[in-house]
Amino acid sequence: MRRVIIDTDPGTDDALALMMALNSPDLVVEGITTVGGNATLSETTENALRLMEHLDGPDSAIPIAVGADRPLHGTYTHAYHVHGSDGLGISLPAPTLKPLSMNAVEFLRDRIAASPGELTVIAIGPLTNVAAALDNRPDIADAIPEIIVMGGAVGVRGNITPHAEFNIHEDPWAANAVFESGIPVTLVGLDVTHQTFMHRNGGPRWFEGDSKSAQLGNGILTDRFRELDGEDEFHLHDPLAVAAAIEPDVLTCRAARVSVVTDGEERGRTIASYGEGSVKVAVGVDVERAVGIVRSVISQ
Ligand code: BDR
Ligand code: CA
Repeated sequence: MRRVIIDTDPGTDDALALMMALNSPDLVVEGITTVGGNATLSETTENALRLMEHLDGPDSAIPIAVGADRPLHGTYTHAYHVHGSDGLGISLPAPTLKPLSMNAVEFLRDRIAASPGELTVIAIGPLTNVAAALDNRPDIADAIPEIIVMGGAVGVRGNITPHAEFNIHEDPWAANAVFESGIPVTLVGLDVTHQTFMHRNGGPRWFEGDSKSAQLGNGILTDRFRELDGEDEFHLHDPLAVAAAIEPDVLTCRAARVSVVTDGEERGRTIASYGEGSVKVAVGVDVERAVGIVRSVISQ
């Protein structure tokens, strides 16, 4: 069983990723840290709390720590046009669960230091919290065995600009800090996530059975396809990062040094120099297997 902390900005595909992490018998979720991105920090935190309360119950013991409300420089731009007016689209009751008083950076440092070499970080939002946790803390960097990052568009067109993928574009400075940290990073970018999707015609029961996660997953996809009229594909960006934590060989990766453009028109562009380096860039995916993992784990 793999112990994980999920850093997230829910987010509709983040919600599916959280369901997978909770359901998978191969993962133990030791905490959730929230970050602004798809919506404001207060909205993404509220979404994380209400998702967890719905899926894991009002007595959920999984800690949720609140993170960054802005990138290392400037402000987040948000993606309401993709995820709905509050970042989630579907309505869930207001949560009674509360976040920790400890913030996300303190939480990440605390938990990672307490279990050196044990905790994989799955980062599916802007990388601000993770970069801040590493800042001036080589001991923390040394204690993380792997960070699985959903982000980047290395050999393909971006989604927020022609050059950049959203998470990396939101905080390119943080992304550079993570890629330069020397920590083994698996980079799950648009190169593979754009191949991995649920099709509109697969609904309204993309997920089988009547578990809470299957019902909520079907509700989220139904809502998104209703709102996004011209879209036939719901990309499984963040779920693919969790699938890679469950079954790493669903991806084909190449080692690289990765850097990110921070300024100008190409802000957020991820550049990979293949050969050696601490980043494993996902360049291929077994699409059928990946979609099968997402479907079966959420259907549980
Ligand atoms: C990424 O950006 C967000 O909108 C999604 O949740 C995903 O993490 C895809 O570019
Ligand atoms: Ca996300």
